[in-house]
Amino acid sequence: MGKVRFSDRALKLAPSATLEVVAKAKQLKREGKPVISFGAGEPDFTSPPSAIRAAKAALDRGETHYTLTTGILELKEAIQAYYRDHFQLDYKTSEILVGSGAKPLLYEALASLLDPGDEVVVFAPAWVSYVEQINLCSGHPVVVDTSGNRFLPSASMLQKALTPRTVGILLNTPNNPTGAVYGKDLLEEIGEVARKNGLWIIFDEIYERLVYGEASHLNILQASPSLRDSTLIVNGVSKAYAMTGWRIGYALGPKDLIDKMASIQGHLTSNAAAVSQWASVGAMAEAEPDVEKMRKAFEERRQIMLSALLKMPLISLTKPDGAFYVFVDIRRCLGKSYRGQILSDDITLCKELLEGEFVAAVPGSAFLAPGYLRLSYANSVSDIQEGMERFERFLAEL
Ligand SMILES: Cc1ncc(COP(=O)(O)O)c(C=O)c1O
Repeated sequence: MGKVRFSDRALKLAPSATLEVVAKAKQLKREGKPVISFGAGEPDFTSPPSAIRAAKAALDRGETHYTLTTGILELKEAIQAYYRDHFQLDYKTSEILVGSGAKPLLYEALASLLDPGDEVVVFAPAWVSYVEQINLCSGHPVVVDTSGNRFLPSASMLQKALTPRTVGILLNTPNNPTGAVYGKDLLEEIGEVARKNGLWIIFDEIYERLVYGEASHLNILQASPSLRDSTLIVNGVSKAYAMTGWRIGYALGPKDLIDKMASIQGHLTSNAAAVSQWASVGAMAEAEPDVEKMRKAFEERRQIMLSALLKMPLISLTKPDGAFYVFVDIRRCLGKSYRGQILSDDITLCKELLEGEFVAAVPGSAFLAPGYLRLSYANSVSDIQEGMERFERFLAEL
């Protein structure tokens, strides 16, 4: 057999900058080292009892077969009711698609909208799968840096990034990794540029339940209702109900786009797992108190982490209003040395922090933002306190 060849598409996929740190953290843990991880991208809570009960009941009833590709009607009706109650947005069940997590739905949307070379604007720092999925769909990601503007995009930033090939924009609020929550004015002004230029908006609000303090989350269609026919909302149960492993996401949008996505899904994953869909029906019906309990716990932990970080030298941060991350500017640490090792970039700093203090963090490079690191507070209060003490000790040694 000749030499194995891979597609340009596969070769172009960037290896995850997080993987190395995560793999190293796991190895150190196996060796018995007292690793504290701030790397988690998921709630550390267990799924709500109502989800587990509904899943067990579904299995006992024999709900172990294929479902409709677009999802069971009971779940689509629960999503429909949720959007009516929470956002005053009306969608028909035929405008709702359930998938195996928000992630494949985003891919299906991009695959439905992009021809080779079409551009999508992504505001960085950004969840890295956006860019990789655009690449996988032979599109071209146009990355716009928001770090000089408290991680908030603006109409003028968007305007400058547009070309005749721009098809759409990806918006993520509350934001991973920055925790930024976009306000009404911002959404209106971005929406206006999108409307004038006939752009699609893919609106990822997977962290919408997790906002803190004075902040409140707004769907872009509440700010700009006229964008309904050119907006795809992406959400899911992963973060809201601590149900990451069940793999249920959903999308709401104009029927023609939802139909195209459903066709792709039909050839890709078919329906999302039946048992997980029923678990999600259970959670959406009964888990409101669990969601609020989790949100309050995150709010307290956020405060503990922020208080500790704000006292530390050499770093700075923009206070996050949502999700469960703090995005820390470590650029002033770069070029300094730690135990003889020059900290040349955020990846090296993360490696040294892990090896020296057994604290795992995700380098900003993983989010197209070198010079930062992401700390997740989906972690116990005692681990946050201990981890912050170690981080401070690390900084003191530079
Ligand atoms: C911004 C963002 N969007 C979407 C997802 C995907 O979530 P899931 O596929 O678990 O529904 C994640 C998960 O980390 C995320 O951070």
